Formats: sequence, C-alpha cells, structure tokens
Amino acid sequence: MERFDVVIIGSGPGGYVAAIRAGQLGLKTAIVEKDKELGGTCLNIGCIPSKALLTSSDHFVFVKKEAEKHGIKVDNVTVDLPKMQQRKEKVVKTLTGGVRALMKTNKVTTFEGLGTITAPGKVSMKLSNGETQEIETKNIIIATGSVPIDLPFAKFDGDRIVSSTEALSFTEPPKKFLVIGAGAIGLELGSVWNRLGSEVTMLEFLPRIAVGFDLELSNLLQRLLTAQGMTFHLETKVSAVKIENGRVTATATKGDQEMKFEADKVLVSVGRKPFSEGLGAEKVGVAFDEKKRIKIDKNFRTNVEGIYAIGDVIAGPMLAHKAEDEGIACVEIIAGKAGHVNYDVIPGIIYTNPELAGVGLTEEQAKEQGLDVRIGKFPFRANGRALANEDADGMVKFIADAKTDRILGAHILQHTASELIAEAASVMEFGGSSEDLGRTTHSHPTLSEAVKEAAMNVEKRALHIVNR
Ligand code: NAI
Repeated sequence: MERFDVVIIGSGPGGYVAAIRAGQLGLKTAIVEKDKELGGTCLNIGCIPSKALLTSSDHFVFVKKEAEKHGIKVDNVTVDLPKMQQRKEKVVKTLTGGVRALMKTNKVTTFEGLGTITAPGKVSMKLSNGETQEIETKNIIIATGSVPIDLPFAKFDGDRIVSSTEALSFTEPPKKFLVIGAGAIGLELGSVWNRLGSEVTMLEFLPRIAVGFDLELSNLLQRLLTAQGMTFHLETKVSAVKIENGRVTATATKGDQEMKFEADKVLVSVGRKPFSEGLGAEKVGVAFDEKKRIKIDKNFRTNVEGIYAIGDVIAGPMLAHKAEDEGIACVEIIAGKAGHVNYDVIPGIIYTNPELAGVGLTEEQAKEQGLDVRIGKFPFRANGRALANEDADGMVKFIADAKTDRILGAHILQHTASELIAEAASVMEFGGSSEDLGRTTHSHPTLSEAVKEAAMNVEKRALHIVNR
C-alpha cells in the first residue's frame, strides 16, 4: 500500500494550496478529488466563473451605457451569450489545468475519486472506474468545502429553482429572475443577469443587504444597484415556492402583508453548508459542532490524532483566501513550523459594480463591542482619478481606535474596491495606524489616494473635502 506523509481530501483553494505548500516542504503528498477537475467550487462553479461573467457583463453595460459619456459611440450593442459562456469556460479550464500542472511540479500525487477515511491514517478512494484503492498516511487534511443550502419549500431542481451552479450557466437571461437572499452570491449573480437583460427581484429576510459588511456602504450599494434596475424587497420572508405551468411563484410576507412574485427562474442563495458526505469522518470519531462543521483546535487538529481540517468545512467565513491561508498554516504546523492565520484581518468582497470590500470591524461591530473609535471617510467623487475614470460612486471608510489610532476596520465601495482593500489589509496586518497610512506617499492621480485621504480624515485632515 502506498504511504504518504500528508493526504489532502478536496482540491479547492484550501486543499490544493495546502498540497503545494506540503510539496515545497518536501512532504510526500497526495490529493484526493471526487470531481474530474481540480480546483473545487471556487475554480469550477464559484469565484472564477462568476468573476468571468461579472467582468463580461460589466463590459457590456459599459459599452451600452457608459461609453457614450467618454465620447465613444457604439451602435447596436448585443450580447453573444454562448460566446460569453465559452470564454468563462476557457478561463476555468486554464486555471484548473494550471492547478494540475502545479500538482505535478510540486510532486503531489493526484487521485480522482471520492475519499473516505476508513481509520486514522487510512484513506480509501472510490475511483471513477468503480474500483477502490486504499492509501496510508501519517496525516490527513480534510478540505472538503461546502455546498449551497436550499429551503425546505424550495428544493433545487436544477432548472427553475436553482443554485449558483446553474445560475452561472444559463443559456439565455431569464425574463424574470427572482433571487432569495441578498448576500454575496445573490448580489453578484443578480447583477450579472440584471446587466444581461433580466428583470431581477431580490427578496431578503433581513432589513439590509450584504450582511456582515459595513451598513452605511451596504445601504449605498443597494441604492446604486436599484438605480441599475434591480428591485429589492427587504424584511421579506419567503414562505412558499411553487412551479406552475413552468413558471415560478413565490409567496412571501413583509410585516403582515402577503406578497406574490412570479418569475421564470429563482435563485436560492441563502448560504452554504459544510460538505462531508461520504467522508467517513464521524465513523472514525471526528467531532462536529451544531452547524455540522468539523471542530478543530487552534492548530487545525480535530479530536482524532493525525486528522486536520481547513476551509469551509470548519468554522469561520466561507472564503477561498481564508481556506488557502489555513491550508498553508496547517501544513506548516504538520511540518513542525509555526503556521498562523490572523482571523482579524480577512478581507471580504462582493464583486458587484461598485464592488463592496471590507476588512476588520465594521462601525456597527465596533459599537456593539463598546469600543471607543474614530471614523475617517472619503468619497470617490472628490478623487481626481475616479472622476477621470467616470467611476466616482462610493467611498472609503476607516474605523480606528480612538486612543491608539490603530486601524480596526476598513471598508471600500468602488469599482475596484477588491484591489484597493489590500493596502488597508496590509497596514492592519502590521498593526498600523490611520496616521501611518495617511502619511504614506500615494501616487497621483490614483484611486488609492482616496484610501489615504480617508485615513487622514480619521483626524479630520483630508485635503480635498471640507470638514466642518
Ligand atoms: P450569505 O450568507 O452571504 O447571504 C445569504 C442571505 O440570505 C442573507 O442575507 C440572509 O439573511 C438571506 N436569507 C436567508 N434565508 C432567507 C429566506 N428564507 N428568505 C430571504 N432571505 C434569506 O450566503 P450566500 O450569498 O449564499 O453565500 C454563501 C457563502 O459563500 C457565504 O459565506 C459567502 O461569503 C460565500 N461567497 C463569497 C463570495 C465572495 O467572496 N465574493 C461570493 C459568493 C459566495
């Protein structure tokens, strides 16, 4: 029987990055993946294909509605959706192929099949040809990820009641598209199909969209998405979804008012749950919490010797970059090094236009915790580059400790917020203050100057707005 130092089950960003790091550290490593392609949800049916469609549909809106403002006239703008989808698939293929190549160059053995832990140190795989193979290992890392949650009255049927997977591959925009849940997935896929011509209605249970993000910026995003044509119903609880004559009817209540919504398709994007089907973890005694997440200690160790877990299958935000960093840290710990993840500085992003990005505490969280904080804000309409780009919606907001000035949170709403937030995250990782960031020279003219000015404005000394 082949024997490894580490066997990783699941090849998403958590698993495959862990495999690369293990290879780099000279550990004899194997990765087991049930699907044909490596890369997991993120590369195949999540982050990457959604960003491909978000970018393509954003370009379409630019050509159709914005180009004219730049003095560019384009007539008869149309969408070739099959081509758009093909481009998306090509991007996915390039990246999953890249991961396979990385496994080879890092001497990681790849097994295609559903991995089951039969005993500590033993993983058996049901291979695609029906055969079973067993391997031995000193350490197992569970990186099996998560799957979409459906609702008891709205089970996924893959056609009318869909998850993000199907909503990434529609062959035509649904005329009427209903989205249940205005979180990251609902807002991103709602945006894609709204841009491509669907009439999009978002139903959200909470009194706000983008829960977890700064409230002020989330409200601003909602206003901007409404102006783009999306309809929002907040504090709206869906209680039934029926398919009649090939059409979807959803019943919801808002206060004591009952509402009915008709649509061609409904996306259920109300969260994801950890995936551990067929893994056999319970059978070997691995402990789970009440949300079916695998319990770990601060070193990613489960209660069973030699079995570790990372990513969406454990507690914490279900984000690819969180899983990646856990994968690296976990392998480093296995190799006897000091692996660490700073959970206070994990950026989150919703890739709408504008993008909503946040890292650290929101203003509301700081207040809930009774912290004494100072806030610095700066709007992009006062930033030269944003105006030159005709991209001036949004703002930057810093939350800093009132006594020490340490940055506790940073929030950005802007077309490129996903890139801009990295600077704030770096400064926070080093325990930096708003003054540190505000005194750093930023190139002119750039959008990042708005980040600097917001940091300066913690002390009410931004230059390009009037602080009264
Ligand atoms: P989510 O947890 O972000 O949002 C779900 C929303 O659905 C919440 O606002 C919730 O209040 C609402 N909801 C729940 N039940 C409802 C009901 N019965 N009726 C109406 N509204 C209801 O979940 P989402 O968007 O499905 O994303 C799942 C996970 O994937 C999240 O952890 C998210 O962070 C991650 N993700 C991250 C992305 C990114 O980083 N850009 C993109 C996509 C997903």
